[in-house]
This record gives sequence, structure tokens and C-alpha cells, in this order.
Amino acid sequence: MNLILLGMPGAGKGTQAEIIQRDFDVANISTGAMMREVSRSEGELAEKVQTFLSSGTLVPNEIIVEMLVQRISESDCDKGFLLDGFPRNLDQGKALDAAGVAIDLVLFLSISEEEIVKRMSGRRVHPESGRSYHIIYNPPEKEGLDDVTGEALIQREDDAPEVIKKRLDVYYRETEPLLDFYRNKNLKFIEIDASRPLDEVTESIRQSISN
Ligand code: AP5
Repeated sequence: MNLILLGMPGAGKGTQAEIIQRDFDVANISTGAMMREVSRSEGELAEKVQTFLSSGTLVPNEIIVEMLVQRISESDCDKGFLLDGFPRNLDQGKALDAAGVAIDLVLFLSISEEEIVKRMSGRRVHPESGRSYHIIYNPPEKEGLDDVTGEALIQREDDAPEVIKKRLDVYYRETEPLLDFYRNKNLKFIEIDASRPLDEVTESIRQSISN
């Protein structure tokens, strides 16, 4: 099973992707996590990627598409994969088609902008693993610390209020057109109400995948 998680920034894609990976044993590919890893390395590419991440704009297709197609060709994807954060615009969707990548299911996590702002402003992450928490909705066992490693959690720099606004603008302009792109394709497209509590969203996703 190859599946795509679509949704606004902060809709809960990364949180649900971790659960799906565990439950269904698929490779979990987050292009946001890939880009954050690149930005933590040294050199010109790292610096370039960092400027896109911190401003809330998309990393250009010529950097990201090849990396993603290469990642999908790795052996852990043979059993199926989950894409979180890719495609992000129509050209990336078409690039997947051109590379002959078959998608079985698209899950669209729908949610209001008001809820998104609450989620992103309360988000805390473990930078190394990408594990994501929320100070109220999904707190770690010990305040400010990652449940697995006990290391400090941080706030993502693109969760600053002015960058959240920019990311939402980018979503409406670039990513939203992908909803119709996939609705009109010969695959299963399911909209999930992602404004509900975490467990309820997970249950809907499990049912959609199992069906
Ligand atoms: P990326 O990392 O993909 O960010 P995003 O899509 O903006 O999504 P987020 O990670 O912010 O949110 P999420 O939906 O995963 O929510 P989460 O589960 O954390 O991309 C970052 C950047 O990388 C982009 O801006 C771009 O520059 C670059 N990039 C990435 N992919 C690219 C591409 N394909 N092309 C070009 N550039 C690319 O949840 C959010 C919060 O809510 C958490 O605190 C969580 O605990 C909480 N929460 C989750 N679910 C619930 C719930 N049901 N109820 C209450 N709280 C919840």
C-alpha cells in the first residue's frame, strides 16, 4: 500500500504518520523531516534549504523531487510507503506520475485555520527524531522532555506566528489544488475530519486503510 497524507501545515500529518508506520509497517517518508536534516548539515545546499524552511516557503522542486524519488526506490519502501508532506504542489504530483510511482490511497486531513494556529503554536518537537508533541493536546510524560530519549524539546522556528501565516498562504496557493488533482484520479481519496481528538482521527485513518 502506497499512501499520501495531505493537509494544511499543522493538521496532524506527522503525528498520524508515526502511528500508521507502526500499525501498518510501511515506510514513513516526511519531506519536511528530510529537509530539516539537510539544513542541519554543512555546506551551500544546507544554507539554501534553511532559508526556505525559516521563511515558510517551499524548497524548490529541483532540490526535492529527485531526493524523494530516490528515497522511494530504497528497499524499505517495497512493502509500501506513506508520504507526509509530498507532493506539495501540482508539479510534484505530476513528477510522481512521471516517475511511475503508483498511489493507492490519499487521506486528506481537513481542519479549520483557527485550530491550525492553536496546534502549531503549542507544538514542541524532538529535533533529532522529529517526534512531535503539544503542550495541551498531546503533552510529553515529563514537561519539555522527549518521552523516548529524555532530551529537551524545542519549538520549530517555522511555528512563529508570522511564519505560520506565510505557510498557510503557501498551502492555499500551491498545495490545495492537489485535492482536485487526486479527487479526479483513479484511486481512493478519503477526507478525514482532523479537528477531532487525536485518538478519534487515528481510528478513522485505521478504518480507511483497513477498508
Ligand atoms: P513539513 O514538516 O512537512 O511541515 P507542514 O506540512 O507544514 O506540516 P507540519 O509538520 O507543520 O504539521 P503536521 O501536519 O505534520 O502536524 P503535526 O502532526 O506536527 O514542512 C516544513 C517545511 O519543509 C515546508 O514549509 C517547506 O519549506 C519544506 N518542505 C517540506 N516538504 C516539501 C515539499 N514537498 N516541497 C517543498 N518544500 C517542502 O501536529 C501539529 C500539532 O498538533 C502537534 O503539536 C501535535 O501534537 C498536535 N496534534 C496533532 N493531531 C492533533 C489532534 N487530533 N488534536 C489535537 N492536537 C493534535
